[in-house]
Amino acid sequence: MDIKAVGRIAVNTAKSLRRVVNSAASIFFYQPTGTEGEEYHKWYYNTFVWNKTTWLGVECWKSVADMWNYQEILFDVKPSLIIEFGSNRGGSALFFAHIMQRVGVPFKVLSVDISHQRLDPAATADPDILFIESSSIEPAIADRIEQLKKEYPGRIFAILDSDHSKDHVLAEMKLLRPLLSAGDYLLVEDSCVNGHPVLPGWGPGPYEAIETYKAEFPDDYTHDTEREDKFGFTFAPNGFLIRN
Ligand SMILES: C[S@@+](CC[C@H](N)C(=O)[O-])C[C@H]1O[C@@H](n2cnc3c(N)ncnc32)[C@H](O)[C@@H]1O
Repeated sequence: MDIKAVGRIAVNTAKSLRRVVNSAASIFFYQPTGTEGEEYHKWYYNTFVWNKTTWLGVECWKSVADMWNYQEILFDVKPSLIIEFGSNRGGSALFFAHIMQRVGVPFKVLSVDISHQRLDPAATADPDILFIESSSIEPAIADRIEQLKKEYPGRIFAILDSDHSKDHVLAEMKLLRPLLSAGDYLLVEDSCVNGHPVLPGWGPGPYEAIETYKAEFPDDYTHDTEREDKFGFTFAPNGFLIRN
């Protein structure tokens, strides 16, 4: 090897070493101040990027970090029944169905909305999703879930994303109370409104519903704070719940 080649190797090795040392030092010293997650949350919400988010072309009104989190939960929990209250265009139901199709266990997605006029045909075409047009708090919905539990025995992943008023979310949580069992997962979405930290003037919403439910049934759920905190912000603060 000539002297020039040796020199080049030495220079490149020094550069790589400097990069490794600088990266390690900056990870240690260049720490967040504690407000970045909240500021990003406000930016994310207030720019409405969430309602321009699509899953394979179908609107899906979520934070993409939450969607990734749900993918991880679905893979770990492997539910046989997914219950979604609030379908909108059907993008989130389609996302859940696609993830579960890859997970590979038999499953059904039940997606309930008071109006299915806006449903995208790409979502309705999926044979693993059952769309029902109804208010989510109708007793008939509880009866349908009972039936589906018999057809698809196993874990349940339920996600509340319909009317974001406190009373409605509380009613949904109470409807699900006798239907969920230990180990099932409940996601209460949009608990970020009413100042947690967005839309401070909203009025009591999902966050307050979770608090009221907890006061009445303190032993029902454990907060999955590890997943909740994982990506720095979530549209579902306090809303990652595992049934005890
Ligand atoms: C935030 S959107 C759902 C977004 C959807 N999950 C997604 O991620 O793309 C809320 C939906 O809840 C529905 N909704 C409102 N009140 C409802 C009720 N009482 N029961 C069921 N759905 C309701 C609305 O029609 C609307 O489509």
